[in-house]
Amino acid sequence: MKHNLNGQLPMQVLAVANNKGGVGKTTTAVSLGGALHQLHGARVLMVDLDPQANLTQNLIGRSTEVEQHVGHAIIDKSLDGIILETESGLHLVPSAIGLAQYESLIPQQKMWRYRLAQTLATVASDYDYVVLDCPPTLQTFTVMALVAADAYLIATEPELFALSGLSTLTELADGVVEGLNSKLRFAGVTVTRYNPKQKNSTHSIVMQALAMQYGEEALLPSIRRDSAIVKSQGQAQTIFQYDPQSNAAQDYAALTTSLITSFTAR
Ligand SMILES: Nc1ncnc2c1ncn2[C@@H]1O[C@H](COP(=O)(O)OP(=O)(O)OP(=O)(O)O)[C@@H](O)[C@H]1O
Ligand SMILES: [Mg+2]
Repeated sequence: MKHNLNGQLPMQVLAVANNKGGVGKTTTAVSLGGALHQLHGARVLMVDLDPQANLTQNLIGRSTEVEQHVGHAIIDKSLDGIILETESGLHLVPSAIGLAQYESLIPQQKMWRYRLAQTLATVASDYDYVVLDCPPTLQTFTVMALVAADAYLIATEPELFALSGLSTLTELADGVVEGLNSKLRFAGVTVTRYNPKQKNSTHSIVMQALAMQYGEEALLPSIRRDSAIVKSQGQAQTIFQYDPQSNAAQDYAALTTSLITSFTAR
């Protein structure tokens, strides 16, 4: 039987965020979820908070129609009839393009910033981990994600120009800690899609810059560029289903282990 490393901890909610687009947030979310469930036997709920619905496509393919999405769940504060059980074993609160209109609809609700947290609280005994895939903005969904989360993880590219916008995310998170969710902590930063063979790689420069900005302890294992990622996504599989020996699978396994350690150390 698989061992659940989360043991007796209450459900832990992790948000994967970055206001910059295309930096590997969704890939990181689905791969962490895959490792938590497929390697560690945890019960994992994935939540797609992006109207682009990439996480949903990564888990159920492109052709499946989604009728009830996370926007409906947040408005009703209920996940009844919304959670999909995917082939990976991961449970999913899906997104769909229709979620875009909820970006402005949800802030018209009372206490809207707490609504995702309240919605997730209804399934707190059913899951060990919830992984929130944020859109590349700092608007409605990212705000609700930070208010609902125990920890947030930044995924970024190995490019210096990609680091300049990170301070706005950190400022938002600091504001959330002060006013809305004092339990939120920074889980750290992972650099994705780096090429270890590239000469004069910017990876080490980026790592130094991140260490200056966040401290050494915030540097989590990096993820190598790996075509197996793109192929696995084309087949709606996690990297651990598609190729558990691949570089990306090994890197995501290491990242997951360090995150589990930081959750259980608390
Ligand atoms: N380690 C990797 N190796 C190769 N390709 C990768 C890797 N990680 C991510 N990719 C590819 O990079 C692209 C962007 O990744 P992803 O969708 O995870 O980023 P994102 O930050 O979620 O984007 P968005 O801001 O649009 O939501 C995708 O096509 C994905 O397949
Ligand atoms: Mg994404």
